[in-house]
Parts: sequence; structure tokens; C-alpha cells
Amino acid sequence: MVSKIIGTGSCPGDRVVANGDLAQIVETSDEWIYPRTGIKNRHLNTLSGTSGMAASAAKLACENGGIDPKELDLILLATSTPEYCFPNGACQVQEELGAVNAAAFDLSAACSGFIFALQTANSFIVSGSFKTILVIGADDLSKIIDWNDRKTCVLFGDGAGAAVVRASEEGVFSGIMKSDGSKGPVLSCLARSGGNFLTGKTPKMGYLSMDGQEVFKFAVKKVPECIEELLSGQGIRKEEIRYYILHQANERIIEAAARRLKEPMEKFPMNIREYGNTSAATVPILLDELNREGKLIRGDKLVLAGFGAGLTWGAAVLEW
Ligand code: ACO
Repeated sequence: MVSKIIGTGSCPGDRVVANGDLAQIVETSDEWIYPRTGIKNRHLNTLSGTSGMAASAAKLACENGGIDPKELDLILLATSTPEYCFPNGACQVQEELGAVNAAAFDLSAACSGFIFALQTANSFIVSGSFKTILVIGADDLSKIIDWNDRKTCVLFGDGAGAAVVRASEEGVFSGIMKSDGSKGPVLSCLARSGGNFLTGKTPKMGYLSMDGQEVFKFAVKKVPECIEELLSGQGIRKEEIRYYILHQANERIIEAAARRLKEPMEKFPMNIREYGNTSAATVPILLDELNREGKLIRGDKLVLAGFGAGLTWGAAVLEW
């Protein structure tokens, strides 16, 4: 058995915020942001929290896949921004969908989250444990961003994307996941931390902090390396790949990855201009857009790849 994606859905944040809007709150400009990142707008969530966006994307994915949520065996939610320590966000989605037969848990691998969750789902499918799995990447990063820090606040947006994955007798699915915990401080956000009545420290919340240039260098090296390793390990030639659906963190990172892979930019669809970096949601939102625009044809081979805090990175190749 192998995983096949049968439906996709997405839900960006409800409020569009343009570069010019951010220039009202920090010293920045469209002239600085757009050429360095490819971002014009981001969609911030003011309504429903991570689980609400995740559930909306999930409903659309179930409809698109033509399944009743009661058919789901498992819900995996990749997120770094759950509303609660517990219950997990996946259980909130389960309740919202009425997916009463599904087990549900969250998975945390920052911006690589959807790629890691998809591979986790595939392992359950290959082992025969589950047949129909909902995989979601969702983040509400605007709630952990320091809106006084122009180095980070201009980069991110909120959103959710989902895919229904089903066991299939035919197809292709293979993936690679990698981590380097020694680089944790390069991109981090402290959770509620600090103390109890013995330590005397007051718990505090953190904000996202990032060494942008370190992340940039890491991404342009590791992402193409990982894709090369994946494809050569599977004996798949790059000419066979229809699209590389990469984490949307920076247009220049995607262009650099394309150059290193010696593949044309037409194979690297992008939507970062509209949504910014929505963390675990970038890959499934883009996948859903391509699906709904009719750009994916059954039998196409796709590479999905992500990178992010941890540091974590990974890629998967699959047949649509
Ligand atoms: N507006 C105006 N000026 C700014 C802004 C801004 N929004 N942000 C930074 N600057 C200034 C800085 O203060 C600095 O000024 P100085 O030279 O007077 O000190 C100057 O611009 C250059 O700053 P750098 O940080 O060196 O800019 P850089 O060219 O490296 O671009 C960027 C920054 C776009 C963040 C780039 O490093 C990058 O894209 N890195 C990768 C980030 C990334 O991918 N993050 C997410 C990955 S993982 C995940 O998705 C969670």
C-alpha cells in the first residue's frame, strides 16, 4: 500500500494586510520587503484560532476528496501555534468535523510540519494501521510575532492547508526527514516557561526570533541537497517531476534552490506574494491552489519540500 492524496483544501487568514499597511506600524516599506522576499500581502487571522482555520481547510479537503469525515481513521495536525497545551488542535478539528472514528494528534516540526506529517501518515498507511488520513498544516503565527520587530513581522502570515490521504495499491510515495537540534537558537520561540512556586520565577511567553541570514544559508543548501538525495535514492529523474512545491518562506530561496537543482522556474509554483510565510501551511495551501486551478493531472510526479525551526527539513516525492 502507498499513500495517494485524494482531496485538498485551504483557509488563509481572513484579513489581508499589505506591505504598505505594515509601514504604518514599523519602519519599513514595500520597496524593502518585496525585492528581498517576494511578499506583497499576508493574510492575518482575526477570527478563529489555529484549529478554526484547520477545520475549515479540512472540511474543504474532505469535500474535494468526496469523503464523509466519518471515514477518517486519523487526523494529524502539524502546528507550532496550538491554542491550547491540551486538548490538542487535532481533537478540536475532529469535533468540528464530526470525524468520530478518527484518532487525532498534533505534530510539531515548525515550517517542515506538513512534510513531516505527510510522511508520518504514509508510514501508518504502509503499515496497514490506517486507510484514510487527514493531514493538516496550520499556523497562527501572527500571535507569536513581535509586531515591533521589522526583521520578522513583515515575513509571516496565518493560514491552514489540508490533504486527505488514502491507501492505494498503486502509486509513488517516498520521503526524507532531517533535523539538526544544534541550530535551534537560529529560529525559535519560547513557550510558556520559567517557573513554579519553588523556582519563584514568573512564567513568561516568548516571541518568534530569527537569524534571517543563517536560515537563508541553511535553506538554500539543505533543501536542494535533500531533494537530490530523495530522487536519486528512488531512481527518479528530475525530468519526471512536474512541480516542486517548496515551503514559501522567501522567493529568493526558491530561486536559489531551482538554480542548484538546475531545474526551470516554471516547475516551482509560488504564492508567497499573496500569503507570506504561513509556516506549516505554505505547502498544503499551494498544493490546494494548484489542484483547484486544474494544474495537477493524475500520474504527475510532485516533489514537496520544507524547512524550518528545529532546524528541520525534509522532502517527499509522490504521484498525484
Ligand atoms: N524593513 C526595512 N528595513 C529592514 C527590515 C524591514 N522589514 N528588516 C530589516 N531591515 C534592515 C535591517 O535593520 C538592516 O539594516 P542595517 O544594515 O542598517 O542594520 C538591513 O535591513 C539588512 O537586514 P538583514 O537582516 O541583513 O537583511 P537580509 O538581506 O538578510 O534580508 C531576510 C532579511 C529577508 C529576512 C532574509 O535574511 C531571509 O529571507 N532569510 C530567510 C528567512 C526565512 O526563510 N525564514 C523562515 C524560514 S523557517 C520558517 O518558515 C519559520
